[in-house]
Amino acid sequence: MYVCICNSVTDKAIHKAVAGGVRTFAELQAKTAVSTCCGQCTSCAKQVLADALSAQPLVQTISWMPQLTAA
Ligand code: FES
Repeated sequence: MYVCICNSVTDKAIHKAVAGGVRTFAELQAKTAVSTCCGQCTSCAKQVLADALSAQPLVQTISWMPQLTAA
């Protein structure tokens, strides 16, 4: 499904970006350009990002947290 019509960003593209390491909305915007034009897709894009992040394995989610990996 298209999430962002302006930039042709799909839910699959957002899930792929998260699988590739994206963890924040700003990172998602930098990677896909989602929600960088009219902004009408922002709430939907944030929801798809949240869903994609929650679907990530716990170990992968924890590994990007610097306070847990530094030492
Ligand atoms: S629909 Fe995403 S910026 Fe317009």
